[in-house]
Amino acid sequence: MNSVSSQSVPSQAGMPRLLPRVAWVIVLSVAAFFLVTRVPRYLVLTAQSYGPYFWPRSSWLLPHVLGGLLAILIGPLQFWSRIRRDHIQVHRWSGRVYLAGVVVGGIASFGLAATSQVTLTYAAGLAGLGVAWLTTAGMALAAVLHRNFAPAVDDPQLRCHDGVRDVPRRGRPSGSQGHRHQG
Ligand code: HEM
Repeated sequence: MNSVSSQSVPSQAGMPRLLPRVAWVIVLSVAAFFLVTRVPRYLVLTAQSYGPYFWPRSSWLLPHVLGGLLAILIGPLQFWSRIRRDHIQVHRWSGRVYLAGVVVGGIASFGLAATSQVTLTYAAGLAGLGVAWLTTAGMALAAVLHRNFAPAVDDPQLRCHDGVRDVPRRGRPSGSQGHRHQG
């Protein structure tokens, strides 16, 4: 006897959609909390606002915060498929601004790490985060320059015939261009 009821199928199919949304809510909530509680004071360029730890390094922290602000506000928009599909120019320009923010904020994070004066381990950890930030942004840029990205699934420009969806990817062998619909 088949013990799997037909009602369990939709809930199982819904899980893969639910998980990314939950992850997004968590990530955006943490980012919003950080932006509200930690950032505003550094937009006021005074010794009192920065405090003794950061004021001597304000010439690193201010560009870091401004670049970081750009990146953290724009970055999530780059994952919004509706913007990619309907407003590709907006997506391209926001991507350029995002990369500029990461370059400015990332380079300044090295200045902050080098001047932190806590311990060498702490400074190395901060610098490692800077390397990770710039590397992931560089990987995204390289993928764009090589047009190595998957188009939106609902992109109307994709041709669909005989169960095969054409996924144009320049620089790939022609035999690897399509993939079959599941089911
Ligand atoms: C992965 C990317 C990032 C790296 C590697 C990084 C690196 C750093 C470093 C090295 C410091 C100094 C810490 C210290 O000296 O103790 C710092 C502080 C700070 N960063 Fe970032 N940061 C990143 C992303 C961001 C973003 C997106 C923002 C958004 C505006 C931001 C805003 C700040 C602020 C406000 C501080 C002062 C922290 C405090 O008040 O405790 N950072 N960051």
